[in-house]
Amino acid sequence: MNIKDSVALVTGSNRGIGKAYIEALIQKGAKKVYAAMRDTEVYKRDHSGFANEHKGTVELITLDVTNEEQAKRSADLASDVDLLINNAGVAIYQGLISAENLEAARQEMEVNYFGTLSMVRAFSPVLKNNGGGAIVNILSIASLVNFPMLGSYSASKAALYSLTQGVRAELTEQETQVFGVYPGPIDTDMAAGVPMEKAPPSEIAQGTFEAMEKGTEDIFIDPFAVQFEKEYKDKPFGYAKQFAEMLPESIS
Ligand SMILES: NC(=O)c1ccc[n+]([C@@H]2O[C@H](COP(=O)([O-])OP(=O)(O)OC[C@H]3O[C@@H](n4cnc5c(N)ncnc54)[C@H](OP(=O)(O)O)[C@@H]3O)[C@@H](O)[C@H]2O)c1
Repeated sequence: MNIKDSVALVTGSNRGIGKAYIEALIQKGAKKVYAAMRDTEVYKRDHSGFANEHKGTVELITLDVTNEEQAKRSADLASDVDLLINNAGVAIYQGLISAENLEAARQEMEVNYFGTLSMVRAFSPVLKNNGGGAIVNILSIASLVNFPMLGSYSASKAALYSLTQGVRAELTEQETQVFGVYPGPIDTDMAAGVPMEKAPPSEIAQGTFEAMEKGTEDIFIDPFAVQFEKEYKDKPFGYAKQFAEMLPESIS
């Protein structure tokens, strides 16, 4: 998929990796970029310079991915999209057993799994009408191996991994390419408390588009993720053990 002249929509684009995707899309010459986020008013206030500078290219859309009606409405509004980037996500640092109740686990499933599911369902006909296009799901290396410090988040990202495979198969006929991105620790609000080296969000955005242009479906970009991909096939259980050892006392 070529990014130049594409019409893209990015969820959760007000900060972190989503914001980096918006910037990289502009840099790469996308024709139009729908920046979807929960609160466009706060964004307009805090980023008025950026919003004005790219007024012709960037359009803000109010979208909470857990609201199915809003997902459908965004597909009606952005009916020219040929690239959907499902980036919105939430991580609540809780253990599966030590969490007080199921609230965090349900919220992570609601945003990371069901939110992405309603977006791909809403946008599949749009992508079909626009020649097939592409979907990019932002997963995580935690989709493949559970990080016990993020036990329920990892489970929701594992569900998203399965969704990505299923959607890829279902949309082959309409020629929609489905990409999965598996970052390691990235320097955003989400990973603020993670005691590991972190790559900048811009590296993920630029690396995604370079990989897409080469036709790579499953994309590992930052140094941790690249090393993980190399070793994962040989030692998936080794990684599970290594990540288990990183469990902070507050959770174990
Ligand atoms: N940072 C990492 O180390 C890392 C590693 C692997 C994967 N990822 C994945 O990368 C993606 C982006 O994360 P990030 O690191 O950029 O985190 P972040 O800085 O915390 O940003 C999360 C984004 O998701 C949005 N969001 C949360 N719930 C939403 C909802 N219900 N509807 C719409 N938007 C919602 C947030 O919007 P608000 O501002 O309104 O809350 C925010 O824009 C996520 O899917 C995350 O799981 C991150």
